[in-house]
Amino acid sequence: MAMVCLTDFEEYAKEHLSKATWDYYAAGADECCTRDDNLLAYKRIRLRPRVLRDVSVSDTRTTVQGTEISFPVGIAPTAFHCLAWQEGEMATARATEALNTCYITSTYSTCSVEEIVAAAPNGYRWFQLYMYRDRKLSEQLVHRVEALGYKALVLTVDVPYTGKRRNDIRNQFRLPPHLKVKNFEGVFQETSVPEEYGIPANTLDPSISWKDIYWLQSITHLPIIVKGILTKEDAELAVKHGVQGIIVSNHGGRQLDGGPASIDALVEIVDVVAGRIEIYVDGGIRTGSDVLKALALGAKCVFIGRPAVWGLAYKGEEGVREVLQILNDEFRLSMALADFDMAAQGGLQDDDGTNLEGFWPELN
Ligand SMILES: Cc1cc2nc3c(=O)[nH]c(=O)nc-3n(C[C@H](O)[C@H](O)[C@H](O)COP(=O)(O)O)c2cc1C
Repeated sequence: MAMVCLTDFEEYAKEHLSKATWDYYAAGADECCTRDDNLLAYKRIRLRPRVLRDVSVSDTRTTVQGTEISFPVGIAPTAFHCLAWQEGEMATARATEALNTCYITSTYSTCSVEEIVAAAPNGYRWFQLYMYRDRKLSEQLVHRVEALGYKALVLTVDVPYTGKRRNDIRNQFRLPPHLKVKNFEGVFQETSVPEEYGIPANTLDPSISWKDIYWLQSITHLPIIVKGILTKEDAELAVKHGVQGIIVSNHGGRQLDGGPASIDALVEIVDVVAGRIEIYVDGGIRTGSDVLKALALGAKCVFIGRPAVWGLAYKGEEGVREVLQILNDEFRLSMALADFDMAAQGGLQDDDGTNLEGFWPELN
């Protein structure tokens, strides 16, 4: 079967994964309004293409945190890749290494960070971190990934508690016994405490606050990127606390239902941050023109969550490569058809020094 667009991978995954696994990946919180709006919001945005400006040469390369990647799409942290494909995160890591883009490894990986790095030693990676009640747990992970050559920490700040995902409750979702949250192997004793998504419930610290950014800075030299910012007020606080980047994200609509689509939140955040740090966005990106819209609105790079998992479910490493390649091809085409200049992202000037009036999409 020829895979033409990301939806083809979604359909394949839905057909081939077990119902409980599919439901887990697909889940949004409560009524899934925010999850669904993440996609619809992109469809509401219209581009204003310019023509007759020679688009015969296009270059999709960009940099994130000073490192060049082949195009502005990375992999967002998602848990439990071994549920979709036996080699799990190792396959994801190989695919992103091959395409030279950024892979944010989830703390809740079903391969250990050591296995992931060994599988793709030259890959460019960031590590997604949560703040645990026992700070030692977070600290040990930080030192571990630093030593392994991870290039940034992505602190997820939108999970003081886990959102209510109805189907996971109905299905009594559990990791099958042969899979483990490998980064915590041997850390938690077998206890009678109920588990939540592979680790004991109530392990995350709901009292996490801005001062924890200072704590994190005190134990690492890695750049810190906060993931889960949706307002200009929090974006300003993030800059004031000295972080190096923001991922505008609502966790794929899995946390607060009723919050904004991430692409809608991006606009005010780009505005207030005004270029002081890099802004990225995830949630609902399914086509190359979605990528273009996010960049035109000021994101430096976008990240995909579920589509990478669908690629894994289809054909492991090869499937993730195909997903990324399709997005790359579509992005390149949209860029040419809209005459979008990568150098223009962030509203800079065109090669010839003219303003980029007309390059920006209109919001209907
Ligand atoms: C199955 C699944 C697991 C996720 N696990 C994590 C995680 O471990 N840590 C995290 O910060 N975000 C996690 N996320 C959120 C993603 O990083 C990302 O914000 C979201 O998937 C983007 O939306 P998209 O799936 O529409 O691309 C998860 C999302 C999904 C769908």
